[in-house]
Amino acid sequence: MCSPPDRVRQTTGVTAAAARRAFVLRHTRLQPVPGLEEIRLHLADEVLPLWHAVQVETGDPDTPLPYWAVAWGGGLAVARYLRDRPEVVTGQRVLDLAAGSGLCAIAASQAGASAVIAADIDAFAAAAIAINARANALRVTVVQRDVIGEEPPDVDVILAGDCWYEAGLAARVLPWLRSAEERGIRVVIGDPGRPHLPIDELVELASYEVRTTTELEDLGLRQGRIYALRAATPRRPTRA
Ligand SMILES: C[S@@+](CC[C@H](N)C(=O)[O-])C[C@H]1O[C@@H](n2cnc3c(N)ncnc32)[C@H](O)[C@@H]1O
Repeated sequence: MCSPPDRVRQTTGVTAAAARRAFVLRHTRLQPVPGLEEIRLHLADEVLPLWHAVQVETGDPDTPLPYWAVAWGGGLAVARYLRDRPEVVTGQRVLDLAAGSGLCAIAASQAGASAVIAADIDAFAAAAIAINARANALRVTVVQRDVIGEEPPDVDVILAGDCWYEAGLAARVLPWLRSAEERGIRVVIGDPGRPHLPIDELVELASYEVRTTTELEDLGLRQGRIYALRAATPRRPTRA
């Protein structure tokens, strides 16, 4: 039997998760994703007022942008790629890293992945992913933690949509993806030209014109590119 403090904690956790789900539903609108009308997501019509609402809801002026309420250029490119090339994920176990709205996870599931995990550190993203998966009648397992701090998971494919938008995350993602690939996991990267993208380490596979938010991006229309990791050049043996 739970001791009273445990019971209180459990109830509080459930209530907080339910409150976040209600918040996501209240502040977004279920709509088709531009260029991917077969996917519907709960997205914000205006991101900056929503960011303010999250600050008020959490009482935290430093709360991150509601990334989960936007379909970003990198994720849009990944989803388009999977629609063109479903064999990349069909029958595969897939991780959507830094999932945001869960767009890549949902695209993978629609393309026939056998199991899909979506990971994000943001509690509101976790709520949004669960809501979006349900809105598309798909099953996605949501993980709310920093998986980059862990061993790569037991999956066949990792999708990394728009992970190079800030220096801190950018510095950690590539080594982690390389260690995943060394374990035999296929890595698919989608990016709309972020300055932190280590382009020399990548090989371009495809390119799509994607439409994303004009409120936060300088251009609504962007080129979203798909990359694989470039094979690491073997180190030359040092002379004695
Ligand atoms: C620009 S959004 C991309 C979302 C989605 N992949 C897309 O393309 O639409 C980046 C996401 O990375 C998440 N994030 C940042 N650091 C992370 C970490 N260490 N592990 C997992 N997610 C992280 C943020 O919370 C945010 O939802």
